[in-house]
Amino acid sequence: MSSIPRDPALDSTLALFREGYEFIWNRCKRFQSELFQARFMGKPALCIHGRDAAQLFYDDSKLQRGGAVPRRIVTSLFGKHGIQTLDGSAHRHRKAAFLALMNATNLQRLMDETAQHWRRSIMEWEQSETVVLFDETQRLLTRAACAWAGVPLDAREVSRRARDFCQMVDAFGGAGPRLWKGKLARARAERWMEGVVQEARSSGLRAEPGTALQVMAALRAESGELLPARVAAVELLNVIRPTVAISWYISFAALALHQHPDSRLELAAETPGEAAEGYAHLFVQEVRRFYPFAPFLGARVRAPFAWRGHHFEPGTLVLLDVYGTHHDPQIWAAPEEFRPERFAGWNGDSFGFIAQGGGDPARGHRCAGEWITMHQLTLALHFLTRCVQYDVPPQDLRFDLARMPTRPRSGFVMSGLRSTPALLGPTPRLPSAFAARQTAAE
Ligand code: HEM
Repeated sequence: MSSIPRDPALDSTLALFREGYEFIWNRCKRFQSELFQARFMGKPALCIHGRDAAQLFYDDSKLQRGGAVPRRIVTSLFGKHGIQTLDGSAHRHRKAAFLALMNATNLQRLMDETAQHWRRSIMEWEQSETVVLFDETQRLLTRAACAWAGVPLDAREVSRRARDFCQMVDAFGGAGPRLWKGKLARARAERWMEGVVQEARSSGLRAEPGTALQVMAALRAESGELLPARVAAVELLNVIRPTVAISWYISFAALALHQHPDSRLELAAETPGEAAEGYAHLFVQEVRRFYPFAPFLGARVRAPFAWRGHHFEPGTLVLLDVYGTHHDPQIWAAPEEFRPERFAGWNGDSFGFIAQGGGDPARGHRCAGEWITMHQLTLALHFLTRCVQYDVPPQDLRFDLARMPTRPRSGFVMSGLRSTPALLGPTPRLPSAFAARQTAAE
């Protein structure tokens, strides 16, 4: 067995938090290696990078999720006993419930709901001198996601619930106050959702069939037992929270529109019906490749195996580099350029492009909400390019790769908003033909 590079630091935990998204990629470049050893919180770990590493990472005969998610993430971002920590048949059973929500009718319902909220919000924004897109889309998506999921939400509650969803996400790369805010936000959100699940179960609340509330409230473990209400609440939050988190990507999409005016013109010129398959789709993919969100993913070695001449011991933590894999010139030509066109001839390799995980979502842990994310971004582009005109006043649009999660610092401030006649016109028919084809192929 060959020896592999080792990060010289005694413990790399601080460096990981200091370098953020680039931690693994910096070292892979320095060591000219797809893997290296490091220690985090005093424990040995292996960091892996690239397309083949992603394929390895999603081989569930070799790696598992049980015991891989740190407590700080479970208590802020994910919740206890949620799908992210399950393996094998228990995981596949739970995953089927999430994927059942992603049928064409349900996705279209979410898009119609969200489009209503975009229209209403734009009319309100016209009355303000400036709006911060990141903050506004958090509230817009909270309203839309809860309505779609069948979760009652009073107008007065919207801001604080949206804040809680975002604090849970914002905690994942934070320590101290940022982490504590995320934990408290999770505790509040779980209490709220547990109550909603209990009401749905006791029929106090009529949950429409097929909604996320009805599906999660009725969800049973593989053994046939009804899930504890708290666990059903965790899973309901696993649908709503990440839907609200699309506001991070929307602020990056707005930044890309601002910095690439030619792309904006091309998007605006497409008719809404085509947008789902045409340039908008390429633009959405490039937003998810180019801008950072998930920095890396973690799993533990299940059974011993060798890869690239190195022996992987059972129980070892393995971190897969997501950000670096998207910025590796061996995988992506000119990776530091924002070029939607690159996706026109893309081969669809599900291990080279891993913004929301890789492989087959039904078998493995790849994101259950990728269609929602792509459709929400397409819808956001429709409204931002055709339905509203705005100015972008001077502001700090930089994003810090050392901060996880990151976004344009200003949150993307828009001023002088005026709606166009297209605001009340047709929206792209979603889910796109693209998604429908994919669904049919599975
Ligand atoms: C902001 C957009 C999103 C990003 C960047 C994102 C990213 C990810 C990533 C990286 C994973 C982990 C994959 C792995 O562990 O192998 C994941 C898992 C997951 N995502 Fe998303 N996601 C997003 C939106 C959504 C949406 C809208 C939903 C709504 C249903 C969703 C639901 C889930 C679920 C349930 C899992 C766990 C899957 C499993 O463990 O089997 N995500 N996501």
